[in-house]
Amino acid sequence: MKCALLLGTVGLSLIITVAGLENGLSRKPPMGWMSWERFRCITDCKKYPDECISEQLFKRTADLMVSDGYLEAGYEYVNIDDCWSTMERDSAGKLVADPTRFPNGMKHLADYIHSKGLKFGLYQDIGTKTCAGYPGMKGYFEIDAQTLADWDVDFIKIDGCYADEVKMVDDYILFGEFLNKTGRPMVYSCSWPAYQEYSGIIPDYVILKKTCNMWRNWGDIEDSHSSVESITRYFSDNQQRIQPHSGPGHWNDPDTLVLGNFGLSYEQSKSQLAVWTILAAPLLLSNDLATVTPEVRALLQNRAIIAANQDSLGIQGLLLKTVNRIEIWKRPILPRVKDELTQAIAFVSRRADGAPYSIQVELIDDLGLSNSTYIKGYEIFDLFDTTRKPVYVRRDGRFETRVNPTGANLYRFVPKLNVILRGFTNPEY
Ligand code: GLA
Repeated sequence: MKCALLLGTVGLSLIITVAGLENGLSRKPPMGWMSWERFRCITDCKKYPDECISEQLFKRTADLMVSDGYLEAGYEYVNIDDCWSTMERDSAGKLVADPTRFPNGMKHLADYIHSKGLKFGLYQDIGTKTCAGYPGMKGYFEIDAQTLADWDVDFIKIDGCYADEVKMVDDYILFGEFLNKTGRPMVYSCSWPAYQEYSGIIPDYVILKKTCNMWRNWGDIEDSHSSVESITRYFSDNQQRIQPHSGPGHWNDPDTLVLGNFGLSYEQSKSQLAVWTILAAPLLLSNDLATVTPEVRALLQNRAIIAANQDSLGIQGLLLKTVNRIEIWKRPILPRVKDELTQAIAFVSRRADGAPYSIQVELIDDLGLSNSTYIKGYEIFDLFDTTRKPVYVRRDGRFETRVNPTGANLYRFVPKLNVILRGFTNPEY
């Protein structure tokens, strides 16, 4: 009897091990667009026809993603956040899209988005209600998973309001199993770490990465540099604990990019983009694509930055050190030269004292770059400089960069063999 029980337990744990997330999705950080930060829960379409959460908003966004080059740059998901449903389920217990704001239903919108070559994302909640008070999924997991599959959803963000912070983990696992059973691959974005961390509980990241493709670690981003800064601080303060769990198929998510809205200056926009690139963060825009300036659009579509964010090794970068209130962040990416990886390195200014601030760093001592006998120097690219002018190390082997107040510089250091001087130096420098 004891033995049978033991075997039963072993069998069960085997089942649990293999029943994890095996959807093969998001091998790179997902890229797309999500409504929440910019459009919140605006539901009055009479007063705010261009901003309310409605079929029209998501069709317009899908159109702009294609016509303004976002899809071509890699942004593919169009995601509806909260406030899309009616306040009650239908008589069969199914979720229903608000009929005045989504007059043709969700399947119609999904078809429209798919017809543009884009993917379709939706939002729900593991508890009894969504954060904005719409019906949650508790008690309806199977039926809701099937509804999402029937609507051809490609990405589902499951929030954690109105749920117990500890017990919600089992529910997230269970709902993930129902998702898998539908046979439709959907990126599964979970929020349980954010709720647990906020209540002082350390989430089980091992279970998390077996269950979800990405997860919100911390609070909601807002349209300000201080909000971007405080989320960045959470990531650096907790990096030893959370960084190892991010990787292809399972990402830490610091929340949406808010470039293109009201709150960030151009320099601050560069700062969010640089940090999100180092963090291997999902790049989900939350802005009004119709009003993004050409300068910010160029930042968002900068191919060199996107390539670094999407690097296939998927290693999340770390804050290396802070020198005179300039944070130095570093992330290993491809290509690899003689066992040494390229490094994306960001200099992120926490200064606001007027002039651009110049810092000089030692490649080996400060940036932790190689002193291997093979690697003789680095070819350096400024990823924000689309003219691709070369960047050099000084003759004395130090690297100098000047960072604008509250802004950031982002470089790629590619190891080189057979360079006479250590570092590629400009003969006139
Ligand atoms: C929570 C989430 C946000 C957003 C809102 C919607 O606050 O963290 O990202 O989804 O709910 O109500």
